[in-house]
Amino acid sequence: MLEENKNMDKMEKIMSLCKRRGFVFQGSEIYGGLAGAYDFGPIGVELLNNIKKFWWEEVVQKRTDYYGLDSALFKFPKVWEASGHTTGFSDPMAECKNCNTRIRVDKELEKIGVGADEKMSEKEINQLFFDNLDKIKCPKCGKTDFTEAKKFNLLIKSNYGDFTGKDLDPVYLPGEACQGIYLNYKNVVDSMHPKMPFGIAQIGKTFRNEISPRNFLFRCREFEQADTQYFVRPNENIERYEEIRQERWQWYLDLGLSEKNLRWKQHENLVFYAKDAWDIEYNYPTYGFDEMEGVHDRTDYDLTQHSKFSGVDLSFNEDGHKFIPWILETSMGVGRVFLAVLSEAYNIEKVDGEERVVMKFPKKLAPIKVAFLPLSKKEELTLPTKKLFDQLKDKFMCQYDETQSIGKRYRRQDEIGTPYCVTFDFESLEDQAVTVRERDTMQQERIKIDELETYLIEKLK
Ligand code: GAP
Repeated sequence: MLEENKNMDKMEKIMSLCKRRGFVFQGSEIYGGLAGAYDFGPIGVELLNNIKKFWWEEVVQKRTDYYGLDSALFKFPKVWEASGHTTGFSDPMAECKNCNTRIRVDKELEKIGVGADEKMSEKEINQLFFDNLDKIKCPKCGKTDFTEAKKFNLLIKSNYGDFTGKDLDPVYLPGEACQGIYLNYKNVVDSMHPKMPFGIAQIGKTFRNEISPRNFLFRCREFEQADTQYFVRPNENIERYEEIRQERWQWYLDLGLSEKNLRWKQHENLVFYAKDAWDIEYNYPTYGFDEMEGVHDRTDYDLTQHSKFSGVDLSFNEDGHKFIPWILETSMGVGRVFLAVLSEAYNIEKVDGEERVVMKFPKKLAPIKVAFLPLSKKEELTLPTKKLFDQLKDKFMCQYDETQSIGKRYRRQDEIGTPYCVTFDFESLEDQAVTVRERDTMQQERIKIDELETYLIEKLK
């Protein structure tokens, strides 16, 4: 089989597993689905929370120079003018005249090695587009017959507090999560009295009217960003930027992604606010290497803009010396990391001539840590198994499951990546011991019930 076909199979299989086992569902599925919106199911939400928890622990909990935040989604309309999003945040779109498929012209140009700067006017983009038209085909019908490119702003409007129905001064949904950090920078300084340099971290929802949402969780219209903004003295950005880049690289290794699937990519065409920008890319099945996190040197752009537009002095006072801090940003797409974790964990093995799908999540990320399985539905087995579940449910995320054969239940737990299955059988009534099955090796061990808690705590460390 071709390497490409193998990979395509893998992403399709991951998507099918996501639905089958309750990781991710298409948004509004019973109405036919809403493009670019996904819902995380009972198993997926546990994985998502574990990824975010690991990020929060490393970025906020273990640091003395970072502060956490959770700001409101809706913001004063001028925020998006100050940030540059109402004017500078747009993608060039063209439509195939044959089948009406929409394409992002800058992305199509990028594929053939032509860089389209986002500062370019519509006229300049169209010049590049039509100069290279012979190399660009419609991804759906393969024809080369497009409309001119038009720039579309990505901000999504709401009618928040607007009872006029005239859409005069729209309150936008956040086009990037970090703006909430800039708006609260002064509040954090005044309440926490940090010393320079320091950071503020936040996980928040982001909304973008993407022209063509695609590739499952990769390009959505609603998604989550985990951001840090590190405030430094003017011109003290370069050394700290390097340190931050290294910290973020190490975070992905500690998360459990393999280094061979990670790489750095420096931006050639910088977005309107950045002085330097690097992406951490992951090698996704089917899609190949693509952006998972952006690390940006934003200089004093953001606080200068918000000072100007709000009229509030946002300079930092250090021993009588006042300055506008420069900002180093890390912005991770939580859904994209979720997809990378799924891709990394997905394994197919042959066991006794049959396929075993097993998600080899690192234990800290596993949605369910321990499954409790009575061998049969007879009360003499279900009651003591439920008792074990009750004893351990405070310690880890556990699941109790008595439906179908034990073999099918093991396979189900393998597919959601549960590191340990505890089976209570008829012998358990005699010897006061249970069988503990390990996910990756499938090895089974008999453990005394009164030693089970210590055993599992040790194993799940
Ligand atoms: N505040 C900076 C910022 O928003 P960005 O590079 O536009 O920078 C940061 O976004 C991260 O958000 C990206 O690296 C990516 O992981 C994620 N992201 C961006 N657009 C996305 C989309 N349409 N769907 C899912 N994730 C997206």
